[in-house]
Amino acid sequence: MGAFGTYVCLTLNAPGLVLEPLTAAHAGELFPRLQDPALYTYIPQDPPSLESLSARYARLQSRRSPDGNELWLNWVARRGDDAVGTVQATCRPDGVAAIAYDIFVPFQRRGLATKAVTAMLDHVRAAAGITTAKALVDTRNTASIRLLERLGFSRMRLIENADHFKGARSDEYEYARELKAAT
Ligand SMILES: CC(C)(COP(=O)(O)OP(=O)(O)OC[C@H]1O[C@@H](n2cnc3c(N)ncnc32)[C@H](O)[C@@H]1OP(=O)(O)O)[C@@H](O)C(=O)NCCC(=O)NCCS
Repeated sequence: MGAFGTYVCLTLNAPGLVLEPLTAAHAGELFPRLQDPALYTYIPQDPPSLESLSARYARLQSRRSPDGNELWLNWVARRGDDAVGTVQATCRPDGVAAIAYDIFVPFQRRGLATKAVTAMLDHVRAAAGITTAKALVDTRNTASIRLLERLGFSRMRLIENADHFKGARSDEYEYARELKAAT
């Protein structure tokens, strides 16, 4: 497990946002927001049932992969009383993290993903030794591509025929960014 053995998932702060470590107790609050089909246009998944969401969040509470080698980190972004989205980092011992994010539809296009992902990247660099962040994004997902480019990620490669879902082929871009200590 290496350095990950002592990792503790903390509440994070971003301007106007608090990022709470995701727990099973969040399922009931997030479930209605996660029913909006617009969140699933460019990913294979569909809106979850409350039962499957609760079970998934309970599993994620260990914050580790079943073999213990990876940190599986998830936070709920909250602005005041509103849960506005989730961010995720799958951290490997080689210092690479795969990231993902969702901002719920009523809260999109207000800079919240930019702030939440920035806070998460700062944290995994400092607390989990992550030096490279990566993301896979459907080539049609303009919002996610704009977000990654705004965050300083570079397009590394095109993966044609990465998947097939919702009646269409999915090509993906892989994006990456080196994480440097704040100066
Ligand atoms: C991708 C997503 C997280 C962006 O969240 P957000 O809070 O709206 O993003 P921000 O407000 O921080 O904006 C980041 C950039 O994306 C742009 N953007 C956001 N939504 C956009 C849209 N629908 N179309 C075009 N650009 C968009 C913003 O203008 C900004 O770019 P700019 O600085 O060049 O203007 C959100 O659209 C989402 O949750 N989508 C559904 C789930 C999803 O696709 N997740 C990613 C899977 S890879």
